[in-house]
Amino acid sequence: MKFFLDTAHVPDIRKAAGMGIADGVTTNPSLVAKEGRDFIPLVREICAIVDGPVSAEVTAEDADGMVRQGRDLAGIAGNVIIKVPFGQEGLQAVRALEAEKIATNVTLVFSPLQALLAARAGASYISPFIGRLDDVGHRGMDVVEQALDVLANYDLHSQIIVASIRHPLHVLEAALIGAPIVTVPPAVLWKLFDHPLTDIGVARFKADWQGLQEKLR
Ligand code: E4P
Repeated sequence: MKFFLDTAHVPDIRKAAGMGIADGVTTNPSLVAKEGRDFIPLVREICAIVDGPVSAEVTAEDADGMVRQGRDLAGIAGNVIIKVPFGQEGLQAVRALEAEKIATNVTLVFSPLQALLAARAGASYISPFIGRLDDVGHRGMDVVEQALDVLANYDLHSQIIVASIRHPLHVLEAALIGAPIVTVPPAVLWKLFDHPLTDIGVARFKADWQGLQEKLR
């Protein structure tokens, strides 16, 4: 399973890249707004850190505007993926951008049928938002599982990115159903490192080692 970072925060991206676990990055207008920086230079900086796909989202509301923005964003670096909100205008833009060999990521997907439509439009990536579904009492991971089945039934090759991840269990569940990609907020990624037995083990090794050094002195 590939790990994308769901953030526009450069220090976290650098840290994960330094460990070889930043296979890609997804941003959205809210995440960029949090950084308080200009969009284009920020995307350029992220693309220089990460080898894999970096999603940058269009903000236009009509297909022509999305295509124009998509072309501009794609010019920033070779690994930019154009994130397009699901919808009728969005899928027209996806079709046009993919026809120009500009890869897209359809975002704000909440059902397996939306995923099917996005795949038929030719999206390279599709992002079901599982946390937001869980928030309203639906099982987000069921949507991912069904979307994977539906795409496999018709031999459609869009890659599913499990998005809107809220906690480590979401990551485990995604891995157990064989999801190809998760996009994880840094706060959740760092939690995956934590285990009390690891901490206890490190402390015990340190204490035993120091005890030996004292004995040998
Ligand atoms: C995905 O690409 C989105 O950036 C993200 O996962 C949204 O997550 P949220 O529901 O935590 O805002």
